[in-house]
Amino acid sequence: MSIILNIKNKILKIIYRLKANVSKISQNIRFKLYLKYTDYSKIQINPFEQTYNPITPTGNLSLLVNYVIWQNDLKIKKKIFLNNNNVKNSNLFSNGYQIIQNNNFGNFNNKDNVKKVVNLFNKQVDSETNTQEILKQDIYFIYNPTIFFESLTELYEIKEINELVKNYLGDEACLHNSELMKLSKTTDSTQGSGLFHHDTIGHRLKVYFNFNSVETLSDRPTHYAKSSHINFWPEHNAKTSRFDENYVNNEFIVEKLYSKFNEIVIFDTNGLHKGYYEKDNNDRYSLVLEYGTIKKFNDFKKLGNFPYGIKKQKISKKINLSKTLINKNYLVDDGDYYTYGEHWWKESQPLFYYG
Ligand SMILES: [Fe+2]
Repeated sequence: MSIILNIKNKILKIIYRLKANVSKISQNIRFKLYLKYTDYSKIQINPFEQTYNPITPTGNLSLLVNYVIWQNDLKIKKKIFLNNNNVKNSNLFSNGYQIIQNNNFGNFNNKDNVKKVVNLFNKQVDSETNTQEILKQDIYFIYNPTIFFESLTELYEIKEINELVKNYLGDEACLHNSELMKLSKTTDSTQGSGLFHHDTIGHRLKVYFNFNSVETLSDRPTHYAKSSHINFWPEHNAKTSRFDENYVNNEFIVEKLYSKFNEIVIFDTNGLHKGYYEKDNNDRYSLVLEYGTIKKFNDFKKLGNFPYGIKKQKISKKINLSKTLINKNYLVDDGDYYTYGEHWWKESQPLFYYG
């Protein structure tokens, strides 16, 4: 019985792949015509010149994606426009980013802890399960970070950050993903997140804890086009989300989000940003926490194979759940650790990647 099921799955996989490739070819033809007859190339990056070229949702599905994002983000947009007088949070609302001084992180970001993070990458750099090389950029990730380094849970519990996230995204904001990230010193790239882009998912926050015990500014800051987060972008897919460097520099004030050892960087990924991946810097190590809203996730779930939402992850039981923005409805006690989130999309079908 299981052999028949296996064969059936394999055949389905081939059919889905074929279908996806046919729609990819037809979309590419239309897109090339569009590129030829508009000012696209003065503003955005030609997607056909990128290594990163995933499948884009077709016609009406693409409209629905825009609709879901617009509908879910309307309340947040209103806050962004009205909240400028709120002094404490005004930077995030008006600029799209904020650098927050925080003693909890300052204390955590000491020599011993930085060493522990560095060692994790040294140990696991060859392990396929926990690190991943994307686009040959020498960027590595360790998923389930609190399993490997339990004290990191403290950073999920910082009240100031969690309040700011809730204030910005609304009360239903919750943790979507967490990962340790290493930008290798050899990273040198003009692809993917090295280009100015928005994350194609509307308003969402990323929090960067950059590990650097020295009292100087962290190397390799994210570059952010100030106030570009107020936009509602015409399309939300990887093909149309990369912007021309000159265009961004002419149209926006570009800020470099440097942080000191006791500073946390938070930004809205709907604004244009890019990683700073040029050579001659040091390795950069960060814990990245991602926060989004839950209704948007559930709306996407109804739409199709969109891998957006709370990514499936293990979380150490050392965590004090009530101090975090972990949504308990998506949390299962698995004995030694918690399992959070769900992997609901089907890998056998084409994924409309949002990043
Ligand atoms: Fe991004």
